[in-house]
Amino acid sequence: MKFFLDTGNVEEVRRAAELGVLDGVTTNPTLLAKENKPFREALVEMCGLVDIVNGEVVATDAAGMIAEAREIAALHPNIVVKIPMTPEGFKAIKAVRREGIRVNVTLVFSPAQALLVAKAGAYFVSPFLGRLDDIGQDGMRLLREIMEVYRPYNFETQVLAASLRHPMHVIEAAKLGAHIATMPYKVFEQLFKHPLTDKGLDAFLKDWEKARAVLGDILPVEARLAVGQAGKNKK
Ligand code: G3P
Repeated sequence: MKFFLDTGNVEEVRRAAELGVLDGVTTNPTLLAKENKPFREALVEMCGLVDIVNGEVVATDAAGMIAEAREIAALHPNIVVKIPMTPEGFKAIKAVRREGIRVNVTLVFSPAQALLVAKAGAYFVSPFLGRLDDIGQDGMRLLREIMEVYRPYNFETQVLAASLRHPMHVIEAAKLGAHIATMPYKVFEQLFKHPLTDKGLDAFLKDWEKARAVLGDILPVEARLAVGQAGKNKK
């Protein structure tokens, strides 16, 4: 499963990319509007950090979407253009696909919509799971149904589980075989954490420190100085 960060913030992308397990970014108009930065600059900087960056059109008519999709796609080869799940959006997809522009169809809330997206030849389909949960429906059920509907046909469209709110959403999406999970930075950070990891590490370090005079140091002093560790473990 690929991990994308759902953010408009370049620093969050930089921090997550340093950890070596980030594959891409999804943005949307709301996320970019929170940042005090021209959107072109933000998208291009993100493209320097990860292989896939999704940027979204804001026009609602096909001609406007086509023009905006061309502008956004021209920013960088790593760009995928998000187009909303509307009939006008589908006219736009038909046009821009011929030009080799990769499309992510966003705001998908039903298996029927997802089936149309695959038939249109989109690169990604983005079902919004958390927003269904928000209105008392079952977001994960939507993902399960999309995976079922796609399976017999081997569609090329990749399923990008979006609007994920917590680590269990990511795990459930992985169990169902979603190709990608996009998540806020907070959820990405939560994936790393477990209280027993912290407790275990703390105990290992305390035990090592107690026996350090006998055990010796792993790194010679010069090497510890070079990585800024000298004295750090000493009381
Ligand atoms: O970027 C699309 C999607 O992930 C939005 O999530 O949390 O605003 O429902 P959310």
